Amino acid sequence: MKELLAKEIAARVKDGQVIGLGSGSTTELAIVEIGKRIQAEGISVKGVPTSLRSANVARAAGIEVLDPETEVEIDWAFDGADEVDPQLNLIKGGGGCHTKEKIVARRAGGIVVLVTEEKLVETLGSKFDLPIECIASAKSYVEKELLNLGAKEVSVRKSSETYGPARTESGNIIIDAKFSPLDASLESKINSITGVVENGLFVGLSKEVLVAQGGGVRVLEAK
Ligand code: A5P
Repeated sequence: MKELLAKEIAARVKDGQVIGLGSGSTTELAIVEIGKRIQAEGISVKGVPTSLRSANVARAAGIEVLDPETEVEIDWAFDGADEVDPQLNLIKGGGGCHTKEKIVARRAGGIVVLVTEEKLVETLGSKFDLPIECIASAKSYVEKELLNLGAKEVSVRKSSETYGPARTESGNIIIDAKFSPLDASLESKINSITGVVENGLFVGLSKEVLVAQGGGVRVLEAK
């Protein structure tokens, strides 16, 4: 099913474009599929990656990977998501990359979102906790403030590789917070807690959501 989304993304790429490359398994398949077009048609594509992993997959696929810090206009961007609600707001950050993903999404003026149908929910937070990247030394303070904002549970994400807290590429920890319901207003409220870098609630950033469903791709457009 994810392959259908990958093919749809690759078909939309135009020669010479600069594309924001999200992170996650669905995005990676799309990057590989773009690589097949580069091989077959000799088109040139540049990418602004949202993680080291996406950068490596893109480089291997023949995409010219740009330094995310360089000032370059991004033509459009695509990315996966963990949950999508009927307003096309998202929870992202299952892979811990949501801060870089949100920066690229804002620079591109929004993202094309790729999901399989089980990611569609009536209310955000029903299946997936909200990832919040924060400075390690702020952990207890941020956890307390999240509970004050209505979180039912908070937990620091663990890494099976280090037997300690998972770290983002920027060296920060991730607190996963269970909010039910997860109101859109929490995006800015959570970000105003001192020590929080960014949360995985993406409000108003989906240009379109492509849903792999029933052997095809359904397109949900932002109103
Ligand atoms: C990465 O931090 C996430 O935001 C991913 O985009 C999200 O978890 C979706 O990943 P999959 O495509 O692997 O489901």
